[in-house]
Amino acid sequence: MSRVTIKKLLQEKPVGSEQTVSAWIRSIRNSKNFSFMVLNDGSCQGTLQVVFDLDMPGYEEVSKLLIGSCVTAHGKIVESQGQGQSVEMQASKIEILGKTTEDYPLQKKATSLEFLREQAHLRPRTNLFGAIFRIRHHMAMATHKFFGDRGFYYLNSPILTAVDAEGAGEMFNVTTMDLGNIIKTKSGEVDFSNDYFGKQASLCVTGQLEAECFAMGMGAVYTFGPTFRAENSNTPRHLSEFWMIEPEVAFMDLEGNAELAADYTKYLISYVFEHASEELETLSGYHKFQAKQNKEQFEDHVAILEKVKDSKFERITYTDAIDILSKSGQKFEFKPDWGVELQTEHERFLSEEHFNGPVIVTDYPKDCKAFYMKLNQDGKTVRAMDVLVPGVGEIIGGSQREENYDKLIQRIDEMGMEKDPLWWYLELRKFGTAPHSGFGLGFERAIRYVTGMKNIRDVIPFARTPKNCDF
Ligand code: 4AD
Ligand code: MG
Repeated sequence: MSRVTIKKLLQEKPVGSEQTVSAWIRSIRNSKNFSFMVLNDGSCQGTLQVVFDLDMPGYEEVSKLLIGSCVTAHGKIVESQGQGQSVEMQASKIEILGKTTEDYPLQKKATSLEFLREQAHLRPRTNLFGAIFRIRHHMAMATHKFFGDRGFYYLNSPILTAVDAEGAGEMFNVTTMDLGNIIKTKSGEVDFSNDYFGKQASLCVTGQLEAECFAMGMGAVYTFGPTFRAENSNTPRHLSEFWMIEPEVAFMDLEGNAELAADYTKYLISYVFEHASEELETLSGYHKFQAKQNKEQFEDHVAILEKVKDSKFERITYTDAIDILSKSGQKFEFKPDWGVELQTEHERFLSEEHFNGPVIVTDYPKDCKAFYMKLNQDGKTVRAMDVLVPGVGEIIGGSQREENYDKLIQRIDEMGMEKDPLWWYLELRKFGTAPHSGFGLGFERAIRYVTGMKNIRDVIPFARTPKNCDF
């Protein structure tokens, strides 16, 4: 008989039928004449209770199995006598696929998230990480559905690149050179001419510039891929490798961009409510338990999200944001000063304390932002926007792009960047230029927001951070 998932069994409740389930043991308990095991196969949050008695062949060995062992159970589905589950299995046979040993790290007792990060290969078997990563899956599906339904084309931008598209100098080099014997030019610089690509290459920090090329031909596109940043930030919201979704749209201004960003964020939340309510419940229970342990007040993030999915996102300019921060009377580590990029503490104050919900900040000083953003009439600010949310801060960064060839050249010069590698990007402004806009949503930051998890390392399968590239 073929295997059925626990998800299907719990949905269909085929009482009276014979079924086969393969799964891992979450708990096992022996009484006098029979035993129970609770199984989870990862198909859903739910578990299946399997009852087997002394007469079952191999009872001795099976009843001694430890938590984490893997089995295939065959038996009849019956109405459950106990509380907490609707159906259970009366097993006639249990095959052992893989035993485990006493030192299996995931025991019943509560373990810390820090410990589980060191067990990243095993944490997918926990209730909590099952919930987080099923939500991650649904948010990916929601992304394709949202943009697909709106007529956007899905674009795979390159991962290897020769341009620093954000101009921030935070790129990982890619080379096949012999690192023990780097050849230098006469002036003492690394000679990349003999390297694999014949020039310096890196991992992309964004797919935006390539997405712009396609928006200027196909109208509306979005990327969804990994991006890499070699910034030395050891924080709960920075990863060296993270996933980004970048829509780019021709003939759209900053207004439309902000609207798209709010609609997309709200769609992600609604989709998770629709497709992963049990997972949200698990997370809500987890956070409640944590708050109790830490003697903190519990604020159910799920209840808050529920309201956000139908709310209007507040809008303010950067200049007004600085004003609010300066007059707040709040003690900040970094003083909010016009001209300086907002810090996480500022972003969180605005969204958590001041607006108590998501807020879109626009029109930042040009010196805080990348070269490609459209300059405002004032000559000082650019048509940038960041979406800030409670608990995380910035989850989206975007802008209207500078479509004017001369102004773009001027910005590149001002910033001391090289024009040559950007020749193709500049040609978009030379041949049939048009207003266009886009943004990037940090996938893991958005997942942090939806799951309420406090550390970005807990919402990506295998985190890469400074000094950490295990698994
Ligand atoms: O604000 P950023 O740097 O914007 C861009 O990369 C633009 N090219 C996007 C665009 O307009 N198409 O990054 C976008 C988002 C941030 O808002 C943040 O959510 C996330 O990417 N992000 C990171 N997430 C995790 N770890 C990091 N180190 C991140 N850096 C940025
Ligand atoms: Mg940003």
